[in-house]
Amino acid sequence: MLKINDLTVKVEDKEILKNFNLEIKDGEIHALLGANGTGKSTISKTILKAPGYKITKGAIYYNETRLNDLTTTEISRLGIYLINQSPIAIEGVTNAEMLRTALGEISNSYVDIFAFNKKMESICKSLDIPKSFIHRSINDGMSGGERKKNELLHLWMLEPKFIILDEIDSGLDVDALKLVGENLKEYYKKMKCSILIITHSIELLNILNPTKVHLLKDKEIINSGDFNLAKKIFKEGFNALNKADEVGENKTHE
Ligand SMILES: Nc1ncnc2c1ncn2[C@@H]1O[C@H](COP(=O)(O)OP(=O)(O)O)[C@@H](O)[C@H]1O
Ligand SMILES: [Mg+2]
Repeated sequence: MLKINDLTVKVEDKEILKNFNLEIKDGEIHALLGANGTGKSTISKTILKAPGYKITKGAIYYNETRLNDLTTTEISRLGIYLINQSPIAIEGVTNAEMLRTALGEISNSYVDIFAFNKKMESICKSLDIPKSFIHRSINDGMSGGERKKNELLHLWMLEPKFIILDEIDSGLDVDALKLVGENLKEYYKKMKCSILIITHSIELLNILNPTKVHLLKDKEIINSGDFNLAKKIFKEGFNALNKADEVGENKTHE
């Protein structure tokens, strides 16, 4: 379970989030919606301890572990995984090199090359990307959509239990969006993981069917509800709701 209590986050001395609260239980899918620049990527980067995102108040817990003082590496080792909004390219380091090293670190043992290649090839097939991706430099020279699929290749190999997807829909064409949505659903079912999804795509939410939907506005979550809240926001816009509105929990049914 991930629990965020009364979090205040500053970036370059500017307060981006304040009184931010969120609780995601094991096996739940939560969608975080909000206008551009409201701090959605900030929360995802803060959970993973990206440099420059400073927690000045509150705490983040994963199960019993307090994440505030852990490093990105330590948090990753707990099984928390972020697919960034704009995944960066790492020239000169191939997918295979990175993944074999990471898997060796996780299991603390030798990674069998035959089984590794077989799994990589099967994942490439399910993601509709060529096998040549296995030996390509990470995200290097890949289109926006290919990068997102490449990140999913990493996901399936590393098998994290808590995943944060920051606008995985951006850069995907209609067919790729459907494929990625179904692929994520399959991962969710297989791994019985938890998901925090940040998205502007109602189609993706339709496929993933989130347990809860939250609206981020004015530095905090001002409304939470079920899928009907997402439908209302996509229909009427982010400004249709204010903090004072009593739409919240289970009051979003039409
Ligand atoms: N590394 C950074 N340096 C300076 N400002 C930042 C940085 N990261 C985020 N911000 C600012 O914080 C606010 C929230 O950004 P972000 O979390 O990326 O929003 P969202 O993902 O909801 O579009 C924006 O005003 C953005 O400019
Ligand atoms: Mg963002």
